[in-house]
Amino acid sequence: MKIAFFEVSQSEKPFLKKSKFLKDHEIEIFPEEISLKLLKEIPDCEILSTFIYSKVSADHLKILPKLQLIATRSTGFDHIDLTTCRARKIQVVNVPHYGENTVAEHTFALILSLSRNVHKAYIRTTRGDFSLEGLQGFDLKGKTMGIIGTGRIGLHVIQMAKGFGMKVLAHDPQTQPFLAEVLGFEYVPFDCLLSSSDIISLHCPYNVKTHHLINEERIKTIKKGALLINTARGGLVDTHALTQGLDSGILRGAGLDVLEEEEMIKEEQELLSKNYPEEKLRLLVQNHILLHRENVVITPHMAFNSREALNRILETTLQNMECFANGKPQNGVS
Ligand code: NAI
Repeated sequence: MKIAFFEVSQSEKPFLKKSKFLKDHEIEIFPEEISLKLLKEIPDCEILSTFIYSKVSADHLKILPKLQLIATRSTGFDHIDLTTCRARKIQVVNVPHYGENTVAEHTFALILSLSRNVHKAYIRTTRGDFSLEGLQGFDLKGKTMGIIGTGRIGLHVIQMAKGFGMKVLAHDPQTQPFLAEVLGFEYVPFDCLLSSSDIISLHCPYNVKTHHLINEERIKTIKKGALLINTARGGLVDTHALTQGLDSGILRGAGLDVLEEEEMIKEEQELLSKNYPEEKLRLLVQNHILLHRENVVITPHMAFNSREALNRILETTLQNMECFANGKPQNGVS
């Protein structure tokens, strides 16, 4: 089969080159995200593998008439036009288990940065300033953590929070009472979680129902002085409302591995040559305002990015392709 990989980093290439499965197939490896121009170079592509920055739209799919499988090297798949894939009978598969501990650990990296002002202290000490003024933090022990989404990642965050001696509240339309009892957390209504948690952490998927789950109205109900942590997807939080929440002091700070329209920050150089709608440009400005706040820690969508997790992603992606080629697809999401 003809298989094309996009968004492949230098460190991932040797893994792909070593694969026994790929040796029997014709492969193309691109470091870039997909584009109409690059896809035109591989019109007979049958399997496409991308990461999250490749927005796979109906226009992209039109160029690939032979495409049978999209194997995204991620858990999230909101970057792929599933409606068109279903209509075209293109299978979409993901990597459901690779980094639940990895993302949970990064969630705590953001929480601890903010709770102990590590980010501010780091900048000061690089300037030779060892003063403690303004660096007082707070203990996690005894505080209440609110977890939105008790799936694979959320459950890992819960276990870590328990390790810190925190009380854990959770909200999820699909409750798991047995696990709540075993791990020692409590399911509560959404509003109750927002008004009772010292730290709120998002671990649910992004879709039409969860778009701006954290909006202006809901931010007003958050416990004063809480931290908001988002390692899930930028679109879960209304950026304008977040900025207002930080300005008003309802939110003490925010730890964000994901931002709304985060890809625009990466593409800033190209902005002048593209016709972006005003609404998106406004978001870009708001993201820049967030970047410069002392009580906001932003990382560039890297919660998944540990050596161990990346190896697991590639292993599962190649297994996904092999199973599909053998007529026994696994990890389908469409
Ligand atoms: P999962 O599918 O195991 O769990 C998601 C949970 O969210 C499910 O229990 C579901 O019932 C719940 N949920 C759905 N709608 C909800 C709502 N409105 N309110 C509360 N809960 C809701 O997913 P997993 O593996 O835990 O991943 C969570 C998200 O983390 C993914 O959707 C992905 O977007 C993001 N992610 C981010 C990464 C990063 O590098 N920053 C890496 C991997 C995943």
